[in-house]
Amino acid sequence: MPSFSSGASPQKQQHNARRKQLIRQQRKSLPIASVKKRLVEEVKKNDTLIVVGETGSGKTTQLPQFLYDAGFCQDGKVIGITQPRRVAAVTVAKRVAEECNDQLGKKVGYSIRFDDSTSNATRIKYMTDGLLLREALLDPLLSKYSVIVVDEAHERTVHTDVLLGLLKKVQRSRSICADKNGKTSSDRQDHSQSSTLKACQGIKYAPLKLIIMSASLDAKCFSDYFGGAKAVHIQGRQYPVDTLYTYQPESDYLDATLVTIFQIHLEEGPGDILAFLTGQEEIESLERLIQERARQLPPDSTKIWTTPIYSSLPSEQQMNAFKPAQAGARKARAARKSFESSEGDHITLVNVYRAALECLEKSKSANAKEKTMEKALNRWCWENFINYRSLRHARDVHSQIQGHVQQMGLYVSSCGDDMVQFRRCLTAAFFLNAAMRQPDGSFRALATGQSVQMHPSSVLFRTKPDCVIFNELVRTTQNYVKNLSRIDPLWLAELAPQYYATED
Ligand SMILES: Nc1ncnc2c1ncn2[C@@H]1O[C@H](COP(=O)(O)OP(=O)(O)O)[C@@H](O)[C@H]1O
Ligand SMILES: [Mg+2]
Repeated sequence: MPSFSSGASPQKQQHNARRKQLIRQQRKSLPIASVKKRLVEEVKKNDTLIVVGETGSGKTTQLPQFLYDAGFCQDGKVIGITQPRRVAAVTVAKRVAEECNDQLGKKVGYSIRFDDSTSNATRIKYMTDGLLLREALLDPLLSKYSVIVVDEAHERTVHTDVLLGLLKKVQRSRSICADKNGKTSSDRQDHSQSSTLKACQGIKYAPLKLIIMSASLDAKCFSDYFGGAKAVHIQGRQYPVDTLYTYQPESDYLDATLVTIFQIHLEEGPGDILAFLTGQEEIESLERLIQERARQLPPDSTKIWTTPIYSSLPSEQQMNAFKPAQAGARKARAARKSFESSEGDHITLVNVYRAALECLEKSKSANAKEKTMEKALNRWCWENFINYRSLRHARDVHSQIQGHVQQMGLYVSSCGDDMVQFRRCLTAAFFLNAAMRQPDGSFRALATGQSVQMHPSSVLFRTKPDCVIFNELVRTTQNYVKNLSRIDPLWLAELAPQYYATED
């Protein structure tokens, strides 16, 4: 009889043991490890603390674990750590769960919009700053958190900044609630304070600990904003870094980047090169330039591979190495054509979504097993150059929204093939994201007056709609609008009169 005590083979067990050992060593060698005790003391002493340290010093992965070990999660309280990017929240949570030798979603979890891996047992919770903002709407005192860590604060994204303002208020409210009698240091009890007292309803709250983490040395603006909060600096780096500057400002930094990449490639030893640029267009054009230049290198020189990473790239591709699939790329464009609709990107996406559901239905009637259905869908995605994970994500989002709508007691029905109704619905929902074509062919966003261009990825690119609704505004070398649908400009006044109705 085989033993069931452990599912893993001896080799696997050995591998796991080695990995655990390696992780222990890595953690010990991080610059933050040597100041664990001091950091915990500072958090105990100060309600607001600013932690500054180089990238890689261990702030994001280690500090929450230190605080957990120091008892900040007693009474079931949670340590929340916000990240500006979804992918960071996910990867860091996975790493920390592994460091804690626990499954993701137990002690350590993450929560991002439409994807929640936390449970009642979760004490260290990584999340996007946008998600915490939403939580604060439902629970203005953020009562389940003992500590909030605002990470990457130096990036100063809109969400992070709004969050800092909000957390300042939450801290004040919690400290009022902490005082049993509701006495405040000043006699003045303004409206927000008296409503806070109502919200506490006699419950005693511990003050909210707030930690602002930043990789930039300029902690002063955060310190000033929080009434002279204390800042601690973590010294040291995990890896040696040389900083080299150009003597003169570069007028064409893209070209300078290209030259530098080939300098490193031809003159330095083995290793990878990471180049940061401002947006998708720059990344794509640098990639093209590198490939062109690489073709001119002597045939015996080391090959150079380029792997672009930007947020709108599907996550598999973000992780994957670059694959030169020329024929595939051409085919992919052809495949996209079959879903394309000159009514715009949203309808194109709906066409894809419906075709996928049809494929699911077909495989359902042929074979009832869930696993086989998913397999068939995966295959269908492969054949049609659709990203399977994105499609699954769309299905999750759809079923969650459907759940919410049903919970609200609303009736759910489909517009069927009536795509005018569909576009009118988009207009009613996204009326703030409308853009009107100008005589010179550019567009003007109506709410902000900004001049914008259609993004080349849109199916409407090279067409001339009078008016569009957009979902995304990206700023690279220019302002671009993405995910577009053509609408009738008259619908705006009809469906959003509060915003667009004219005087007469
Ligand atoms: N997802 C990951 N996979 C493997 N190692 C990781 C991961 N995230 C972090 N690490 C390790 O932890 C170290 C500290 O990372 P982190 O806590 O993110 O530092 P900081 O927040 O100060 O930039 C990194 O140098 C790396 O060795
Ligand atoms: Mg970090």
